[in-house]
Amino acid sequence: MSDVTTIKIRPNGPYLVEGPFRLIDSQGNAYTVNPGKPTALCRCGQSAKKPFCDGTHRTCGFAAEELAPVE
Ligand code: FES
Repeated sequence: MSDVTTIKIRPNGPYLVEGPFRLIDSQGNAYTVNPGKPTALCRCGQSAKKPFCDGTHRTCGFAAEELAPVE
């Protein structure tokens, strides 16, 4: 595993976090995440398991394909 945490934006889908990180709620409590597996965070706002992606983006019509500017 790399020591650099990477967040990949999936086309029309979640943020995929790879590498060590902590996910803290608004009360300061930590979510349990598996450090050995990528974690998908909901970007569409429709997941029943927020902040995690549950796959609902595939059926709710979410469309977002932002690309980083190419330099
Ligand atoms: S991005 Fe997958 S359920 Fe929202």
